[in-house]
Amino acid sequence: MTVDEVRERAGSLEQEFKDALARVENTAGLEEVRVRFIARKGVVPALFDELRSIPPEGKKEAGRILNGLRMRLQSAFDERKEMLAAGRARDSNIDLTLPGRTLTPGHLHPITQMLREVRRIFVSLGFSVADGPEVEDDYHNFEALNFPPDHPARDMQDTFFIRDTVLLRTHTSPVQIRVMETTEPPIRVIMPGRVYRNEAISARSYCLFHQVEGLAVDRGITFAELKGTLGTFARQLYGNDLRYRFRASFFPFTEPSAEMDISCFLCGGKGCRMCKGTGWLEILGCGMVDPNVFTAVGYDPEEYTGYAFGMGIERMAILLYGIEDIRMYFENDLRLLEQF
Ligand code: PHE
Repeated sequence: MTVDEVRERAGSLEQEFKDALARVENTAGLEEVRVRFIARKGVVPALFDELRSIPPEGKKEAGRILNGLRMRLQSAFDERKEMLAAGRARDSNIDLTLPGRTLTPGHLHPITQMLREVRRIFVSLGFSVADGPEVEDDYHNFEALNFPPDHPARDMQDTFFIRDTVLLRTHTSPVQIRVMETTEPPIRVIMPGRVYRNEAISARSYCLFHQVEGLAVDRGITFAELKGTLGTFARQLYGNDLRYRFRASFFPFTEPSAEMDISCFLCGGKGCRMCKGTGWLEILGCGMVDPNVFTAVGYDPEEYTGYAFGMGIERMAILLYGIEDIRMYFENDLRLLEQF
């Protein structure tokens, strides 16, 4: 072999080696390349063996060429090995070791969470869930609920009117009527949804909010079942040592009517800013379904009794989370939402 032949052979071998290395995708492939080229029985050491046949005056130059070749191959090999170990693919522009893009998960709105929690508790007590329209007629929102025309009780709830007798429902109680119009007792149902009131917007009132209505109708239902059910509910939601009381109240569609208070969990009943010094927080309205309501939906008030209740979800959330401005639930400020 002449020196020129060695140089030529080394050049083509280097090219062959680089091509083979570039195709390597895993350590097994890498090992194949090593065995074929640089391992003891590979083509590079074989080329060194050829040095013997080189004339003496060319030996030094040929040795330099081969040593250079061996070094370059070894370092190309090492580099490839490192890249593979670092998890880089054949295309070195893609670095599989880079950290992934984090997907920030969304949050359920605190009102949605509260609605789901209330629903979960009542479903566990045997209630089913019903739905009704937000655009209602006067009949379902007022008249069938025993609000006589022009009765001052209608002023209890400032109404958004769409037309004369079409309005945005001011409470979820019209869904009671719709359920009773289409179902026979026994009934145990809750009815969550949005309601609208034409009130001046402030920290305490907003033009829309959410209520959960409840209705139970059967033979022989008493006020005791109403108290037991709502007491169980409140303790599941706010904790087992909660105390509660029922205060006489008035709603046209229940008789007798009551409001339910729970002991203030901020001060434990001693009196604080949250409970305005009373030690009690009002959480819902309730009562025994008025016989006039049963008559309106075609139930015999001599045969059936029942109870109904209605709670404001924002109010319950305000109490549970200590967020005092109701408007914050509708502004969708991420600084608030991300905390839930
Ligand atoms: N609908 C009443 C309100 O909006 C609440 C309520 C519901 C009271 C059912 C008694 C029975 O204030």
